[in-house]
Amino acid sequence: MSFSENVIEVRGLSKRLRDATGELVILQDIDFSVARGQSVAIVGASGSGKSTLLGLLAGLDTATAGSVNLLGQSLGELDEEGRAALRRRSVGFVFQSFQLMPHLNALENVMLPLELLGETAQVRERATLLLEKVGLAARLRHYPKQLSGGEQQRVALARAFVTEPAILFADEPTGSLDTATGEKVIELMFSLNQASGATLVLVTHDLAIASRCDATLALSGGRMMNGAQA
Ligand SMILES: Nc1ncnc2c1ncn2[C@@H]1O[C@H](COP(=O)(O)OP(=O)(O)OP(=O)(O)O)[C@@H](O)[C@H]1O
Ligand SMILES: [Mg+2]
Repeated sequence: MSFSENVIEVRGLSKRLRDATGELVILQDIDFSVARGQSVAIVGASGSGKSTLLGLLAGLDTATAGSVNLLGQSLGELDEEGRAALRRRSVGFVFQSFQLMPHLNALENVMLPLELLGETAQVRERATLLLEKVGLAARLRHYPKQLSGGEQQRVALARAFVTEPAILFADEPTGSLDTATGEKVIELMFSLNQASGATLVLVTHDLAIASRCDATLALSGGRMMNGAQA
């Protein structure tokens, strides 16, 4: 596997925060890489740094030390607008807390990433199709506060998928879903992975999901427990 085929390259990544009691080490010296089209599960106890790592990988947060290279671009060398442009084009992100736009209904939330890309062709149809795939055909006009937690999670998934991103980051994407719905969502994610060669990085507590991935990165207290080359 040549260097250029790695879509994610992480070197010496650390995140430290200062508070009143001193310095808090959130992530310490993380190294790994992920090749195009691979699926990686990030596992670890609550507080081990999984969400922080995902935010750094997607350029939503900045590191204290080290580097993240995404699709050949070093995030540290891009300004905020550059990182945002890279995300819009190439990255889907499912947040642990969903982060839907409260003043937009389900359909409008899913249309938004396409509109931000300036796409005009079949935006409504593509968003509707994704919402149908996650079982929300009857909830298109509902606002986030009118949706259950699991329904919001599925809107967030549809929003992350709609642009067919090269890399999908998902933070416990089945955390609020019942077993059957969770399985549907996982099938959708792996079908994106297989059909379009998308790279998947999933935070999960579900060992059955982790075992379907090509590699597992285990975090403990902000350190990586296995030196996985995904
Ligand atoms: N802005 C912040 N200020 C202070 N501490 C923070 C901040 N963000 C995260 N932390 C701390 O960093 C650690 C890692 O947080 P993170 O959200 O990455 O954990 P996690 O592995 O995703 O946990 P969970 O499984 O509960 O979602 C936690 O101990 C958390 O309290
Ligand atoms: Mg988390």
